[in-house]
Amino acid sequence: MLNVGVLVSGRGSDLQSMIDAIESGYLPEAKISVVISNKSDSFALERAKKHNIPAVFIEFRKKKRVDFDMEMVEVLKKHNVGLVVMAGFMRLVTPEFVSTFKGRIINIHPALLPSFPGTHGHRDALAWGVKVSGCTIHFLDEQMDHGPIIIQRAVDVLENDTEETLSERILAHEHDQLPRAVKLFARGSLEVCDRKVFIKEKLPGFKEWLAQKGKKT
Ligand code: GRF
Repeated sequence: MLNVGVLVSGRGSDLQSMIDAIESGYLPEAKISVVISNKSDSFALERAKKHNIPAVFIEFRKKKRVDFDMEMVEVLKKHNVGLVVMAGFMRLVTPEFVSTFKGRIINIHPALLPSFPGTHGHRDALAWGVKVSGCTIHFLDEQMDHGPIIIQRAVDVLENDTEETLSERILAHEHDQLPRAVKLFARGSLEVCDRKVFIKEKLPGFKEWLAQKGKKT
């Protein structure tokens, strides 16, 4: 069983997709052993508690970045975490954090990297006038939104799109593919060779799997 630690800052809909995937039977290989937020009012913490998952708030203000990260490491180690998922975690982590969980941190970003890294992926994509955007799930390395890409899904950008409407369509793919990425990792089906990630097994996304089974979340 893979113990997953999820880092969040916001409402946690990506976290919810992993919880649903586990509870529905799509992702029996994993367990969310802890959720950590740097925001005390993060709705993601409520979601975790509702599902009896330990939910930990860690204060980041007035602390050195590395000290905050080492507090996270302590909590993650206490919960025997084998994979860290950054699901809407709005902080940069230090190289010390990355090296502690080397090759075992994945991040989800709401744009097609390497385009539009940073905190405003949707806004930047709209401002640039791109016709296609999407989401990227990738391994984390020392640089922001930079590591080897595991999965990308594209979404057409419409002329009247706002950040809200675009993010809603992109999130549908995030909720489908994030559980798939965790499942592939848990099954040892991701092979990383420099910047390339080879997927060694064909698996449906979570929503696709639900549709095949005639189930709903
Ligand atoms: C998602 O768009 C994700 O790609 C980004 O932050 C957002 C998280 O949303 N990194 P939620 O908090 O999971 O609803």
